[in-house]
Amino acid sequence: MHIDRDRFISDLETLASFTDGTPPGISRLVFAEADQQARVWLKSQCRDAGLSVREDAVGNMFARWTGTQPQLAAIGTGSHIDAIPHSGRFDGTVGVLGGLEAIRALQQSGFAPQRSIELLLFTAEEPTRFGLGCLGSRMLSGGLDSAADTHLKDSEGRTLAQLRAAAGFHGSLDQVRLKDGYYAAFVELHIEQGPLLEKKGLAVGIVTSIAAPAALRITVEGEGGHAGGVLMHDRKDAFCGAAEMVLAAEERALATGSVDTCATVGKCHIFPGAANSIPSRVEMEVDIRDTDEQRRNGVLREIEQACARVAAERDLQVRVTRINADAPATCSPRIIEAMVKAAEENELTYRTMVSRAYHDSLFMARIAPVGMVFIPCRGGVSHRPDEYSAPQALEDGAKVLASTLARLSREN
Ligand code: GLV
Ligand code: MN
Ligand code: MN
Repeated sequence: MHIDRDRFISDLETLASFTDGTPPGISRLVFAEADQQARVWLKSQCRDAGLSVREDAVGNMFARWTGTQPQLAAIGTGSHIDAIPHSGRFDGTVGVLGGLEAIRALQQSGFAPQRSIELLLFTAEEPTRFGLGCLGSRMLSGGLDSAADTHLKDSEGRTLAQLRAAAGFHGSLDQVRLKDGYYAAFVELHIEQGPLLEKKGLAVGIVTSIAAPAALRITVEGEGGHAGGVLMHDRKDAFCGAAEMVLAAEERALATGSVDTCATVGKCHIFPGAANSIPSRVEMEVDIRDTDEQRRNGVLREIEQACARVAAERDLQVRVTRINADAPATCSPRIIEAMVKAAEENELTYRTMVSRAYHDSLFMARIAPVGMVFIPCRGGVSHRPDEYSAPQALEDGAKVLASTLARLSREN
């Protein structure tokens, strides 16, 4: 089996050209123009490879290579192509285009799968537009129903219903959930987004579990006013309160004493946003993760309590809502074994590891046995324009994925 590394890299370059960001940063907001152009291009690539393409009501795309026993549950692979603002070209895309490359390589080797092999593009893995990550895979696994159509809105108040319809995705969201047993296995290829593989000089990482993500939306209300006219002791500055809440989140994450606990405030909007006006309202989001769900839940509660305390001390109003608090996922021992064999038969070095980032596999694990293959990325850097995985890493990842898919597609 031969991975066409140049074709894989050229596909990554083409996909990177569909961006609504300012170079060198990539950005692909779900359902925006660049995302739609990228989807059109990707569908034509899949059709050229002889795959039959369908899309569901939320825009998840499925491209199927029909097996010799199409009545059997399929083997899924894939990832996302949406990209957060000012990010790189490898996050998610490596799993989609690597999946396509793995299928092409297997086809060209003359391999005939028994189970169908299906490539997926998940809608909105990133939380950028709707505040909630893994929208498509959450729905496929039954974690969201049609109420999301009106509940989920972007920053300009447009609903999921409006945005998906404008992008050409129609029908009830209740039809998105996959039938039980639809997939016999799901395997996702992804960049590591951490430094371990590169540091140890290993070719691939074989994921054993995925850490549990959560997010809070915090709205702090105070009193606006003139930056000179209102004296310091008379103020109810919403941003000063918010700043204390941010530091409390950092402090609570550090206080667990575990390197596995993380808390990040990456989004903060100050109203009215003028240099000479006291902030009257702040809206922000906290991202909280841990490999240990109970410890993560403890940190969530402590941050909520700290927000209430700071608000009371400063005579502010605070509203804290949980956007999501998801369980971690464990990878299937059977798929881990298949990935280990795939690495060994390709003479590639590997280690097992935990995924600290979340992925669509977190949700696919609710309806199918899952596995993930990681490849090294330079300096462990991700969610930045300088995100980079070397050609050899891309080839190795696609090879291990192809061998794993081949093995799983022949299993009963
Ligand atoms: C996924 O992009 C994550 O934030 O883990
Ligand atoms: Mn990402
Ligand atoms: Mn990703």
